Amino acid sequence: MSMKRVAVITGGASGIGRETCIKFAKEGDQVIVADFNEKGGQETVELIRSAGGEAEFVKVDVTKLEEVEALVEKAVGFYGRIDIMFNNAGIGGAGPVLTQDMDLYHRTINVNQHGVAYGIIAAGNKMKALGIQGVIINTASVFGFLASPGTFAYHATKGAVIMMSKSAALELSPYGIRVVAVAPGAVDTPIIQGFKDRGMLDSMRAKVIGGELTKPEMVANTVYLLSLKDAEAINGSVVMADQGYAS
Ligand code: NAI
Repeated sequence: MSMKRVAVITGGASGIGRETCIKFAKEGDQVIVADFNEKGGQETVELIRSAGGEAEFVKVDVTKLEEVEALVEKAVGFYGRIDIMFNNAGIGGAGPVLTQDMDLYHRTINVNQHGVAYGIIAAGNKMKALGIQGVIINTASVFGFLASPGTFAYHATKGAVIMMSKSAALELSPYGIRVVAVAPGAVDTPIIQGFKDRGMLDSMRAKVIGGELTKPEMVANTVYLLSLKDAEAINGSVVMADQGYAS
Protein backbone atom coordinates (compact mmCIF):
# COMPACT_ATOMS: atom_id res chain seq x y z
CA MET A 1 0.00 0.00 0.00
CA SER A 2 1.47 3.29 -1.03
CA MET A 3 1.45 6.16 1.42
CA LYS A 4 -0.92 9.01 0.66
CA ARG A 5 0.66 12.35 -0.12
CA VAL A 6 -0.13 15.32 2.11
CA ALA A 7 -0.64 18.76 0.51
CA VAL A 8 -0.76 22.03 2.44
CA ILE A 9 -2.45 24.80 0.45
CA THR A 10 -2.58 28.43 1.60
CA GLY A 11 -5.36 30.66 0.35
CA GLY A 12 -7.48 27.48 0.32
CA ALA A 13 -10.69 29.33 1.22
CA SER A 14 -11.19 30.84 -2.22
CA GLY A 15 -10.34 30.97 -5.91
CA ILE A 16 -7.23 29.17 -7.14
CA GLY A 17 -6.40 27.81 -3.66
CA ARG A 18 -9.84 26.27 -3.16
CA GLU A 19 -9.83 24.62 -6.59
CA THR A 20 -6.34 23.27 -5.95
CA CYS A 21 -7.46 21.77 -2.62
CA ILE A 22 -10.37 20.09 -4.41
CA LYS A 23 -8.13 18.77 -7.21
CA PHE A 24 -5.49 17.23 -4.91
CA ALA A 25 -8.20 15.63 -2.74
CA LYS A 26 -9.96 14.24 -5.82
CA GLU A 27 -6.68 12.65 -6.88
CA GLY A 28 -6.42 10.93 -3.48
CA ASP A 29 -4.09 13.24 -1.56
CA GLN A 30 -4.77 14.37 2.02
CA VAL A 31 -5.26 18.12 2.05
CA ILE A 32 -4.71 20.85 4.63
CA VAL A 33 -6.87 23.83 3.69
CA ALA A 34 -5.02 26.84 5.15
CA ASP A 35 -6.40 30.38 5.21
CA PHE A 36 -7.27 33.15 7.59
CA ASN A 37 -10.82 33.08 6.24
CA GLU A 38 -12.23 30.38 8.50
CA LYS A 39 -15.71 30.27 6.96
CA GLY A 40 -14.43 29.89 3.39
CA GLY A 41 -11.83 27.36 4.50
CA GLN A 42 -14.42 25.20 6.26
CA GLU A 43 -16.58 25.35 3.13
CA THR A 44 -13.66 24.02 1.07
CA VAL A 45 -13.24 21.17 3.60
CA GLU A 46 -16.95 20.36 3.36
CA LEU A 47 -16.86 20.35 -0.45
CA ILE A 48 -13.97 17.87 -0.32
CA ARG A 49 -15.52 15.62 2.33
CA SER A 50 -18.91 15.50 0.63
CA ALA A 51 -17.10 14.21 -2.48
CA GLY A 52 -15.39 11.51 -0.38
CA GLY A 53 -12.00 13.23 -0.02
CA GLU A 54 -9.85 13.91 3.04
CA ALA A 55 -9.20 17.45 4.29
CA GLU A 56 -8.68 19.47 7.45
CA PHE A 57 -8.83 23.23 7.93
CA VAL A 58 -6.05 25.15 9.68
CA LYS A 59 -6.43 28.85 10.32
CA VAL A 60 -3.27 30.77 9.49
CA ASP A 61 -2.11 34.30 8.84
CA VAL A 62 0.76 33.78 6.43
CA THR A 63 2.32 37.11 7.38
CA LYS A 64 3.45 35.54 10.68
CA LEU A 65 6.34 33.07 10.49
CA GLU A 66 5.38 31.37 13.77
CA GLU A 67 1.84 30.75 12.42
CA VAL A 68 3.17 29.26 9.19
CA GLU A 69 5.52 27.02 11.21
CA ALA A 70 2.55 25.98 13.37
CA LEU A 71 0.56 25.24 10.18
CA VAL A 72 3.23 22.84 8.94
CA GLU A 73 3.45 21.27 12.42
CA LYS A 74 -0.35 20.76 12.47
CA ALA A 75 -0.29 19.20 9.00
CA VAL A 76 2.23 16.64 10.24
CA GLY A 77 0.09 16.20 13.36
CA PHE A 78 -3.02 15.41 11.30
CA TYR A 79 -1.52 13.24 8.57
CA GLY A 80 2.04 12.37 9.63
CA ARG A 81 3.92 14.09 6.80
CA ILE A 82 4.03 16.94 4.29
CA ASP A 83 4.80 16.30 0.62
CA ILE A 84 3.48 19.42 -1.09
CA MET A 85 3.44 23.02 0.11
CA PHE A 86 1.49 25.40 -2.13
CA ASN A 87 2.24 28.97 -1.04
CA ASN A 88 -0.67 30.63 -2.79
CA ALA A 89 -2.36 33.10 -0.41
CA GLY A 90 -2.23 36.57 -1.89
CA ILE A 91 -3.91 39.93 -2.11
CA GLY A 92 -4.29 42.24 -5.10
CA GLY A 93 -2.91 45.24 -3.26
CA ALA A 94 -2.26 48.07 -5.63
CA GLY A 95 -2.36 51.76 -6.24
CA PRO A 96 -0.34 54.15 -8.38
CA VAL A 97 3.24 54.59 -7.29
CA LEU A 98 3.31 58.32 -6.55
CA THR A 99 0.19 58.25 -4.40
CA GLN A 100 0.80 54.81 -2.94
CA ASP A 101 -1.20 54.00 0.19
CA MET A 102 1.75 52.87 2.30
CA ASP A 103 -0.33 50.62 4.57
CA LEU A 104 -1.54 48.73 1.51
CA TYR A 105 2.00 48.66 0.12
CA HIS A 106 3.33 47.00 3.28
CA ARG A 107 0.37 44.65 3.55
CA THR A 108 0.89 43.50 -0.03
CA ILE A 109 4.59 42.79 0.59
CA ASN A 110 3.75 41.06 3.87
CA VAL A 111 1.20 38.66 2.37
CA ASN A 112 2.47 38.07 -1.17
CA GLN A 113 6.21 38.09 -0.52
CA HIS A 114 6.88 37.37 3.15
CA GLY A 115 4.00 34.87 3.28
CA VAL A 116 5.63 32.86 0.49
CA ALA A 117 9.08 33.15 2.10
CA TYR A 118 7.73 31.83 5.41
CA GLY A 119 6.05 28.92 3.62
CA ILE A 120 9.31 27.99 1.87
CA ILE A 121 11.26 28.19 5.13
CA ALA A 122 8.74 26.31 7.30
CA ALA A 123 7.94 23.56 4.78
CA GLY A 124 11.55 23.26 3.58
CA ASN A 125 12.84 22.73 7.10
CA LYS A 126 10.13 20.20 7.93
CA MET A 127 10.62 18.20 4.72
CA LYS A 128 14.38 18.19 5.30
CA ALA A 129 13.96 17.07 8.93
CA LEU A 130 11.59 14.25 7.93
CA GLY A 131 13.71 13.24 4.91
CA ILE A 132 10.78 13.84 2.54
CA GLN A 133 11.58 14.60 -1.10
CA GLY A 134 8.73 17.04 -1.48
CA VAL A 135 7.82 19.95 -3.68
CA ILE A 136 7.15 23.58 -2.82
CA ILE A 137 5.02 25.48 -5.34
CA ASN A 138 4.61 29.26 -5.12
CA THR A 139 2.01 31.41 -6.86
CA ALA A 140 3.67 34.12 -8.92
CA SER A 141 1.84 35.90 -11.75
CA VAL A 142 2.34 37.23 -15.25
CA PHE A 143 2.59 40.48 -13.28
CA GLY A 144 5.96 39.19 -12.09
CA PHE A 145 7.17 39.80 -15.67
CA LEU A 146 4.82 42.33 -17.24
CA ALA A 147 4.23 45.82 -15.90
CA SER A 148 0.86 47.52 -15.88
CA PRO A 149 0.03 50.91 -14.39
CA GLY A 150 -1.51 51.12 -10.93
CA THR A 151 -0.19 47.83 -9.58
CA PHE A 152 3.21 48.87 -8.22
CA ALA A 153 3.38 46.84 -5.00
CA TYR A 154 1.82 43.76 -6.56
CA HIS A 155 4.47 43.65 -9.30
CA ALA A 156 7.21 43.93 -6.69
CA THR A 157 5.92 40.91 -4.80
CA LYS A 158 5.40 38.67 -7.80
CA GLY A 159 8.89 39.40 -9.12
CA ALA A 160 10.13 38.47 -5.66
CA VAL A 161 8.22 35.16 -5.70
CA ILE A 162 9.93 34.19 -8.96
CA MET A 163 13.44 34.84 -7.67
CA MET A 164 12.74 33.33 -4.22
CA SER A 165 11.63 30.17 -6.01
CA LYS A 166 14.82 30.00 -8.08
CA SER A 167 17.06 30.77 -5.13
CA ALA A 168 15.38 28.27 -2.79
CA ALA A 169 15.41 25.59 -5.52
CA LEU A 170 19.22 25.80 -5.60
CA GLU A 171 19.55 25.43 -1.84
CA LEU A 172 16.92 22.75 -1.34
CA SER A 173 17.96 20.50 -4.20
CA PRO A 174 20.57 18.62 -2.08
CA TYR A 175 17.62 17.35 0.00
CA GLY A 176 15.63 16.29 -3.04
CA ILE A 177 13.12 19.08 -2.52
CA ARG A 178 11.94 20.94 -5.63
CA VAL A 179 10.76 24.54 -5.65
CA VAL A 180 8.76 25.92 -8.57
CA ALA A 181 6.60 28.94 -9.30
CA VAL A 182 3.33 28.94 -11.20
CA ALA A 183 2.33 32.12 -13.01
CA PRO A 184 -1.37 32.59 -13.73
CA GLY A 185 -2.56 35.40 -16.00
CA ALA A 186 -6.12 36.68 -15.55
CA VAL A 187 -8.13 34.16 -13.55
CA ASP A 188 -11.80 34.37 -12.66
CA THR A 189 -11.61 34.70 -8.84
CA PRO A 190 -12.67 37.34 -6.29
CA ILE A 191 -9.19 38.93 -6.32
CA ILE A 192 -9.56 40.02 -9.94
CA GLN A 193 -12.82 41.81 -9.21
CA GLY A 194 -10.61 44.35 -7.42
CA PHE A 195 -9.03 45.05 -10.77
CA LYS A 196 -12.52 45.61 -12.21
CA ASP A 197 -13.03 48.47 -9.76
CA ARG A 198 -9.95 50.10 -11.24
CA GLY A 199 -11.17 49.58 -14.80
CA MET A 200 -8.44 47.05 -15.55
CA LEU A 201 -10.52 43.91 -15.90
CA ASP A 202 -11.65 44.31 -19.52
CA SER A 203 -8.14 44.98 -20.79
CA MET A 204 -6.82 41.99 -18.82
CA ARG A 205 -9.48 39.69 -20.23
CA ALA A 206 -8.62 40.83 -23.76
CA LYS A 207 -4.99 39.78 -23.23
CA VAL A 208 -5.90 36.14 -22.59
CA ILE A 209 -5.79 33.99 -25.72
CA GLY A 210 -9.43 33.17 -26.35
CA GLY A 211 -10.59 36.40 -24.71
CA GLU A 212 -12.04 34.78 -21.58
CA LEU A 213 -10.72 34.78 -18.03
CA THR A 214 -8.86 31.59 -17.14
CA LYS A 215 -10.81 29.29 -14.83
CA PRO A 216 -9.24 28.67 -11.42
CA GLU A 217 -9.62 24.91 -12.02
CA MET A 218 -7.17 25.22 -14.92
CA VAL A 219 -4.51 26.70 -12.66
CA ALA A 220 -5.26 24.00 -10.07
CA ASN A 221 -4.66 21.32 -12.71
CA THR A 222 -1.29 22.88 -13.58
CA VAL A 223 -0.28 22.96 -9.91
CA TYR A 224 -1.22 19.29 -9.62
CA LEU A 225 0.93 18.38 -12.64
CA LEU A 226 3.88 20.23 -11.11
CA SER A 227 3.55 18.17 -7.93
CA LEU A 228 4.03 14.85 -9.71
CA LYS A 229 7.25 12.85 -9.85
CA ASP A 230 6.98 13.11 -13.65
CA ALA A 231 7.63 16.86 -13.26
CA GLU A 232 11.02 16.24 -11.63
CA ALA A 233 12.85 18.10 -14.42
CA ILE A 234 10.89 21.24 -13.56
CA ASN A 235 12.86 22.90 -10.77
CA GLY A 236 13.52 26.58 -10.07
CA SER A 237 11.28 27.29 -13.06
CA VAL A 238 8.34 29.58 -13.53
CA VAL A 239 5.56 27.70 -15.26
CA MET A 240 3.00 29.88 -17.00
CA ALA A 241 -0.63 28.87 -16.42
CA ASP A 242 -1.94 31.91 -18.23
CA GLN A 243 -3.49 30.78 -21.53
CA GLY A 244 -0.87 32.86 -23.33
CA TYR A 245 -1.57 36.15 -21.55
CA ALA A 246 -0.47 38.98 -23.88
CA SER A 247 1.80 36.67 -25.85
P1 NAI B 1 -8.69 34.90 -3.88
O1 NAI B 1 -8.89 36.24 -3.29
O2 NAI B 1 -9.86 34.15 -4.40
O3 NAI B 1 -7.91 33.96 -2.84
C1 NAI B 1 -6.88 34.41 -2.03
C2 NAI B 1 -6.99 33.74 -0.67
O4 NAI B 1 -5.86 34.12 0.12
C3 NAI B 1 -8.25 34.14 0.12
O5 NAI B 1 -8.95 32.99 0.54
C4 NAI B 1 -7.70 34.92 1.29
O6 NAI B 1 -8.48 34.79 2.48
C5 NAI B 1 -6.31 34.31 1.45
N1 NAI B 1 -5.41 35.19 2.19
C6 NAI B 1 -5.15 36.50 1.95
N2 NAI B 1 -4.30 36.98 2.87
C7 NAI B 1 -4.01 35.96 3.72
C8 NAI B 1 -3.19 35.83 4.88
N3 NAI B 1 -2.51 36.88 5.37
N4 NAI B 1 -3.11 34.63 5.48
C9 NAI B 1 -3.81 33.58 5.00
N5 NAI B 1 -4.61 33.63 3.93
C10 NAI B 1 -4.71 34.81 3.29
O7 NAI B 1 -7.63 35.12 -5.08
P2 NAI B 1 -6.94 34.11 -6.13
O8 NAI B 1 -7.09 34.73 -7.45
O9 NAI B 1 -7.37 32.72 -5.94
O10 NAI B 1 -5.41 34.29 -5.69
C11 NAI B 1 -4.56 33.23 -5.36
C12 NAI B 1 -3.16 33.61 -5.78
O11 NAI B 1 -3.12 33.72 -7.20
C13 NAI B 1 -2.66 34.95 -5.24
O12 NAI B 1 -1.31 34.81 -4.85
C14 NAI B 1 -2.78 35.87 -6.45
O13 NAI B 1 -1.87 36.94 -6.38
C15 NAI B 1 -2.45 34.91 -7.57
N6 NAI B 1 -2.85 35.31 -8.91
C16 NAI B 1 -4.16 35.52 -9.22
C17 NAI B 1 -4.51 35.91 -10.49
C18 NAI B 1 -5.93 36.18 -10.89
O14 NAI B 1 -6.14 36.71 -11.99
N7 NAI B 1 -6.92 35.84 -10.08
C19 NAI B 1 -3.49 36.10 -11.54
C20 NAI B 1 -2.15 35.81 -11.11
C21 NAI B 1 -1.86 35.44 -9.84
